[in-house]
Amino acid sequence: MTVSEWLKKGEAFLVERRVPEPRVSAEFLMAEMLGVGRLTAVTQGTRLLTAKESHTYWDWIKGRGKRQPLAYILGHQPFLGIKIEVTRDSLVPRPETEELVIECERLIKASKVMAPKILEIGTGTGCIAIALAQLLPSATVFATDLSKSALDLAQKNAIAHHVVNRIRFVREDLFSDKQGLPGWADLMVSNPPYIPTKDLDCLEPEVQAEPRLALDGGKDGLVAVRAIVAMAPKRLKAGGILAMEIGAKQGPAVAELFRAAGFEGVVIKKDAQGHERFAIGAIPA
Ligand SMILES: C[S@@+](CC[C@H](N)C(=O)[O-])C[C@H]1O[C@@H](n2cnc3c(N)ncnc32)[C@H](O)[C@@H]1O
Repeated sequence: MTVSEWLKKGEAFLVERRVPEPRVSAEFLMAEMLGVGRLTAVTQGTRLLTAKESHTYWDWIKGRGKRQPLAYILGHQPFLGIKIEVTRDSLVPRPETEELVIECERLIKASKVMAPKILEIGTGTGCIAIALAQLLPSATVFATDLSKSALDLAQKNAIAHHVVNRIRFVREDLFSDKQGLPGWADLMVSNPPYIPTKDLDCLEPEVQAEPRLALDGGKDGLVAVRAIVAMAPKRLKAGGILAMEIGAKQGPAVAELFRAAGFEGVVIKKDAQGHERFAIGAIPA
């Protein structure tokens, strides 16, 4: 069968299994199997697949039919124009998080700090730390996670994107806050687990395939947020900034947590979808 016929068959299979955006998945999987970009893949409609190619493609389509996340099958996800390797041990980077990084870049540039020191809590694939290191060539980043396998992956991604010499990955539990580094950071950034535990079972199957550690924000979704806001004043310099991604309904509660911890200029910003998504505040200078 040709590329075009396999695409049609793959799409129909995914439609039957109610997979969202079935054509998109079929095209991305075909492109990955052919080792070309998605647009190139669809222009090769008349190319015949070998038996081995057909087998690989169909295996992946079946996986997607079981609602495995597309990024887990492909093994990577684009993030601000770079290819981030992902595994089942890490959250798939999201577009909202790209916006968080752009906001952090803007904040650091506006602060005019010459060699900014950045602390990221819960680095996962390392996407935030790596993108910030690339966007801010004079920055050094200290990135933590509890998951050893996520840290190994983040390190691998940092090597692939040539910023590993400016990022230190450290295994640290955000609830233990042992490592200290008092008054060190100009910017602290985090996309913490923020989904209330009771909501986890109602999520799309693709999200449920991601590590619970990356999603579960405890009873009210704010358990990790609270711990990070509490540790931030100890880790930030005077004038240092805390920027966090949060759940769409958490804005007022998180703004209150920031203020209670002594942050000033607290703002809750919306993402491109119009949802309140980012909390930002500064330690008084
Ligand atoms: C929502 S994911 C964010 C991953 C990545 N920064 C991103 O934006 O795609 C949250 C991350 O926090 C980590 N994490 C969860 N609990 C933690 C803890 N107690 N201490 C440190 N990291 C933790 C998870 O392993 C996961 O990588």
